[in-house]
Amino acid sequence: MQINVKIKRFDPDADKRPYWADYTLEARPSDRVLDVMNHIKWEVDGSLAYRRSCAHGICGSDAMLINGVNRLACKVLVQDLGEKIVIEPIRGLEIKKDLIVDMEPFFDSYRAVLPYFINDDPPPPGERLQTPEDRAIFDESTKCILCAACTTSCPVFWTNGGYIGPAAIVNAHRFIFDSRDQGKLERFKVLNQASGLWRCRTAYNCTEACPRDIPITQAIEEVRREMLWRA
Ligand code: SF4
Ligand code: F3S
Ligand code: FES
Repeated sequence: MQINVKIKRFDPDADKRPYWADYTLEARPSDRVLDVMNHIKWEVDGSLAYRRSCAHGICGSDAMLINGVNRLACKVLVQDLGEKIVIEPIRGLEIKKDLIVDMEPFFDSYRAVLPYFINDDPPPPGERLQTPEDRAIFDESTKCILCAACTTSCPVFWTNGGYIGPAAIVNAHRFIFDSRDQGKLERFKVLNQASGLWRCRTAYNCTEACPRDIPITQAIEEVRREMLWRA
């Protein structure tokens, strides 16, 4: 089938403002948007810039705004979009070139919630055991691939880039509800700041955008309740 692909492009070193580049090409309905972009880059215009790595929905590097919705380019098929495809960078982060944005503020928020296991007890001789029921409590939040589709679809993040964002809260949830972890109160301090969890307005965009189907808004609510209970 013939498709028309519009890509919002911007090179801060060369362009005064972003512009739309138009490409008409042949594609199979079963092609993924990433295949289409690779075709453009490799056959038509090598200057097109975007991130990708695994091409299988695992590394989280190719989140972009595709036909108005944040998705991974390697997970969406041409047949699900039709003949017109519009691609823009994810919103709320500085554009470095074309679809590549500066992910550092996103990772700063991730690092701020101490996304690692904290336990100062002497290590046991074997594993730190946990019941299947306790493990199940945070199972969903272990699935995050740090793609930023959630945070960059959040209207609170668009208007206040300082908001810690749903991805960081999901990764805090992963450890806050781990029965073996002891860092809960330190994470609460971070989430309790003006830029923290209380800024969430339950817009649900994050949950709809997540390519891993993590119930993000529910996770935020669970952390919120835990913080209130602890207070
Ligand atoms: Fe991506 Fe989902 Fe993780 Fe957000 S919670 S960064 S959308 S995988
Ligand atoms: Fe934003 Fe998700 Fe809350 S979209 S407002 S973080 S529910
Ligand atoms: Fe790795 Fe799409 S390229 S998730």
